[in-house]
Amino acid sequence: MTDQSPSPRAFSASVPLQGRIAIPGDKSISHRSLMLSALAVGTSRVTGLLEGHDVLSTAAAMRAMGASIERREDGGWVIDGVGVGGLLQPREALDMGNSGTSTRLLMGLVASHPITATFIGDASLSGRPMGRVIDPLAQMGADITASRGGRLPLMLRGLAPAIPLSYRLPVASAQVKSAVLLASLNTPGVTEVIEPVPTRDHSERMLQGFGAELTVETDGDGTRHIRIRGEAELKPQVIAVPGDPSSAAFFIVAALLVPGSDIIIANVGLNPTRAGLVEVLKAMGGDIELLDPRTVGGEPVADLRVRHSALRGIDVDPAITPSMIDEYPILFVAAALAEGRTTTTGLDELRVKESDRLTVMATGLEAIGARVEESEDGLVIDGSGGDPLPGGATIAGHLDHRICMSFAVAGLISKAPVTIDDMAPVATSFPNFETLLESLQG
Ligand code: S3P
Repeated sequence: MTDQSPSPRAFSASVPLQGRIAIPGDKSISHRSLMLSALAVGTSRVTGLLEGHDVLSTAAAMRAMGASIERREDGGWVIDGVGVGGLLQPREALDMGNSGTSTRLLMGLVASHPITATFIGDASLSGRPMGRVIDPLAQMGADITASRGGRLPLMLRGLAPAIPLSYRLPVASAQVKSAVLLASLNTPGVTEVIEPVPTRDHSERMLQGFGAELTVETDGDGTRHIRIRGEAELKPQVIAVPGDPSSAAFFIVAALLVPGSDIIIANVGLNPTRAGLVEVLKAMGGDIELLDPRTVGGEPVADLRVRHSALRGIDVDPAITPSMIDEYPILFVAAALAEGRTTTTGLDELRVKESDRLTVMATGLEAIGARVEESEDGLVIDGSGGDPLPGGATIAGHLDHRICMSFAVAGLISKAPVTIDDMAPVATSFPNFETLLESLQG
C-alpha cells in the first residue's frame, strides 16, 4: 500500500508557529470503530476517521472478510456489518502494511471464527513479536503457524466455538488486551482479562457503546478485571472520532520549542489513558492550556493552546509509561532542548515498536548534536537549555512514522537542517503532517 520510492525531506529552523489546526482522527479509535461496526448487525456511521495507511489496512481486511465499508463524498464512512460470528474466509492474505494494531486486533477477531487467514506486513511489522497475542489466542483454541520467533507472515485458523479464558496480561499492552476481548465476542460464556497496569481503554469503552456486556472492576492495587460475555450482539452506532493525542504531540512539542510560537490544536482526545505527555510537559514547565473540555464519541476532548516555553529536565516516573507509550520519541526531542537532565526508565516496550525507538532516537539525537545516553530501558538526556541543536545530519527513519516526525520537529530548532531519509511512513498515521506544519508557519 505504501509508495516504494523514498521521499527524503529536510526540516530547518522555523519561524514562530502561529494559528489554529485540527489534527486527524485517533488511530486507535479509528481501527476499533471499523472493526466493531463491521461486526454489528446493521449500518454504522463514522465521522473523523483517520484515513492513514494503517486504518486503511484494517478497512481492507474487514472488507475481505465480508463487511461493506464505504467512504462518502462528505468524508463520512458507512459500514454494514456481518454480525458477530459472520466473518467470511478471506480469499487472499491480509496485508497489514506497517500496522501492529491491525494485525494483533484482527488476529483476535479471526481466532474465534471458523475461518483461516494469513497475515503479512512490511519489513518493520515482520520484525515485531506476535507471541504475545499467539499465546492467549492459542489457549482459546486458535491454531497458529508463525514465522520464526513468532513473527509475520503467519497463518491463523480460528476455532468456533472458541474456549473462554481468564488471562492475566504479562505485558502492559492494549493490543494484547484488545485481541483477547475481540476474540471473546464470538466465544460462549465469560472471558476475563486481568490488567495489572492500565493501558488505553478504547476497546472497553467502545464495546460497551456497541452494547456488549462488559464490566470493569478495579482492585485496591489498581489491577483491572475486564469481563465480557461472549456471543454478543453488537448494535450499530454513530461514532465521532476525536483527534489523535499522539499526532497532536508533535505540534505540542514543536510549539513549546520554537521561540515565539502560540498555537491552538482543536479537538484533541484526552482520555486519561493517553494523556501522559501533556502531564509530563507541564511538569517540565510547558505552557499548555486546556480550552473547552467536552466529550466526543464517549471520549474526553479539549482544544489545546500551546505557547513557547523554557523547559526543565525531569525524572519521568515509569508509572506514566502506558499513557504516553507512543510519545517518548517526541518527548526525547523536548528533553534535548530543556535545561538540565531528563531521565527515563521502564521503556523496554519501546524496543519492539515500529523500530527500536530507544536506539534509533539515541543515535539520531547524537547525530544532530544532543547529549544522550542509552540504557537498557531508557534514555538519559542532558538538554541544551533552549539553545538550538547543531543539526546538519541525515536521519534514518527505519519505516517508523513517529521517528520521522520527531526528527522533523528537531529540525525546526536546529542550526543546520535535519534531513529525514524517507518521510513516506508518516502517511501511516498522519498524512497531512507537513501541510499542517506549513500552515502554522504562515
Ligand atoms: C495501540 C496500543 C499500543 C500503541 C499502539 C496502538 C492500540 O501498543 O503503541 O500505537 O491501538 O491498542 P501496545 O499494545 O503494543 O502497547
